[in-house]
Amino acid sequence: MKDKNSFYITTPLYYPSANLTIGHTYTTVAVDALARYKRLQGLDVKFLTGTDEHGQKIEKVANERGISPKEYVDKIVGEIKELWKTMDISYDIFIRTTDDYHEKTVQKIFQKLYDKGDIYKGVYEGYYCTPCESFFTENQLNEGNCPDCNRPVEKQKEETYFFKLSKYTDKLIKHIEENPDFIQPESRKNEMLNNFLKPGLDDLSVTRSSFDWGIKVPFDDEHVIYVWTDALSNYITALGYLSDDDSDYKKYWPADIHFVGKEIVRFHTIIWPALLLALGEELPKQVFGHGWILFDNDRMSKSKGNVVYPESIIELYGVDALKYFLLREFTFGQDGSFTKEKFMNRLNSDLANDLGNLVSRTVAMIGKYNGGIIPQAKKTGEFDDKLKNIAISTPSLVDGHMDDLKYSSALEEIWKLIGRTNKYIDETTPWILAKYDDKKDRLDTVLYNLAESIRIISVLIRPFMENTSNEIWKQLGIDSGDYTTWESLSNFASLESGLKVRKEAPMFPRLEVEKEIEKLDKLNKKLIEERTGKKGEEEIEVEENYISIDEFDKVDLKIAEIVKAEKHPDADKLLVFKLRVGEEERQIVSGIAEVYSPEELIGKKVVIVANLKPIKLRGVKSEGMILSAEKGKAISLLTTLDEIESGAKVL
Ligand code: MSP
Repeated sequence: MKDKNSFYITTPLYYPSANLTIGHTYTTVAVDALARYKRLQGLDVKFLTGTDEHGQKIEKVANERGISPKEYVDKIVGEIKELWKTMDISYDIFIRTTDDYHEKTVQKIFQKLYDKGDIYKGVYEGYYCTPCESFFTENQLNEGNCPDCNRPVEKQKEETYFFKLSKYTDKLIKHIEENPDFIQPESRKNEMLNNFLKPGLDDLSVTRSSFDWGIKVPFDDEHVIYVWTDALSNYITALGYLSDDDSDYKKYWPADIHFVGKEIVRFHTIIWPALLLALGEELPKQVFGHGWILFDNDRMSKSKGNVVYPESIIELYGVDALKYFLLREFTFGQDGSFTKEKFMNRLNSDLANDLGNLVSRTVAMIGKYNGGIIPQAKKTGEFDDKLKNIAISTPSLVDGHMDDLKYSSALEEIWKLIGRTNKYIDETTPWILAKYDDKKDRLDTVLYNLAESIRIISVLIRPFMENTSNEIWKQLGIDSGDYTTWESLSNFASLESGLKVRKEAPMFPRLEVEKEIEKLDKLNKKLIEERTGKKGEEEIEVEENYISIDEFDKVDLKIAEIVKAEKHPDADKLLVFKLRVGEEERQIVSGIAEVYSPEELIGKKVVIVANLKPIKLRGVKSEGMILSAEKGKAISLLTTLDEIESGAKVL
């Protein structure tokens, strides 16, 4: 039985791709803030993150680099951990899918599902998207492309084990409809129900035999467990599920929230709960699919060269500025566009002007008007109640927003209090009070109220910006203790008088936007150069879905002349061509019979892949592939603009 005080939240497991972008850090920053927030409220939090290290893509990249997959992932996982350290990410568990205990439990899970009859052997025929490591049926494709990333898919046929996903369709629909919080935000819930569940689920291929880098099926060495079953299971293997010590599983499962980017909501709200239903385990209470951080309206990616590395922002402006910006600027459920201008402007307005100024003005006034000692409040006056009321009511407003994961609104509430406190300075004009001896009591009260309000602010921002909170404490002369608890927020008089303030350099100096952007670009470029080891090239760290020029060179594209074309004896969609490729003749079978008649193609020059491994298509040998452009049902054969001899190479 889950402990009432336990709170279990997770990030997805990151693919070990070198140099995570600001976009990648988004999920983790959000989970970290919530973990810290709930800890502040006294909950027993488990915050899990980690890396998703198996799969064909990793195996391929490692092979290309001439190292073992494990060597490859070890290095990158080290870098990811380093980044989380730099960013003060307060995770409790870092799980790697290559961890021994995880691998063992995944095998036990697989065996359990097999023994139950929910996994069976069959033949898979479908479309595979290598970057997403996902299979799709023809119906699921988006104009022939992957429905998740819109990249081309490959048709594949192989022996595989299936998980009886279809069996759980109705149960999943029922669960989703009866538990309105299960998938959030609402729009993602509707998408899952209408696009995937209501049309009916197919059984899911859960093993692969065409590569090795994965967890072996316990009873069949030929197969490895396909990555999503492996990766998703982490959320329970990490808690000791099916192990000798499953006390954490009992204490923390079900997860309170799985945080995921919107593109992986489907895996977390269909496959994952179906696996859990099959295992007879409870489902997570919520899966929240957040939006993407876009860069100039595109998804930030190394291969697109529009990457901004978190390290460059952190080096120039600190971790807190980055965390604050990510959580304040964007609405958590929706996409948001990152621009350096927006970042600089937020820093200037919210951090330098509002928060930074409030703290430095207050500390300076306590220094100047009371020898640096926080005075006792003595004489209440106009405006005090307004400040107190908003200060006391802010925590519950923040709490309401945090319950809904509205980070931006939560921060906005805190900034309203900051704004109100700044206004209080303008209203009470301490510099005028200081001119009159008989107004000293009132001045003391104003200074105390300012310090007290800043204390409350420092506690409220703590989950989001711990360094800044620490800095404020240093300036106010306080340590963590009674004045810094969540409970202390309900009392606008917690701070003791007599503490000595300390004037420090401004926490957030004002930035000259253009100059800063130049600085940031320069540093970012330097990072790219260091990471790629090559100067002058923008971003050459190759993403797995890109190929190098050497790889492209392996494809032998040639011009061929069609000398004969006829219908395939056994397949309506296929035509059988005889082609002349320079001196050589060859036969290619192509699926264009619905668009072209054989006669109209005789004498035409087309582009072929000349070094494709020959295969038989419905019993007829095909030695290559004729290239065509395709969109939906439209197909057009590729040819050359000018006359050129057959056998010419296409470069
Ligand atoms: N390995 C899978 C998850 C398996 S969970 C059992 C995966 N990994 S990932 O590295 O591609 O993504 C990790 C997280 O980073 C995802 O939540 C993803 O949405 C998030 N982001 C990566 N780039 C992003 C943006 N540009 N913006 C916001 N989040 C993005 O998916």
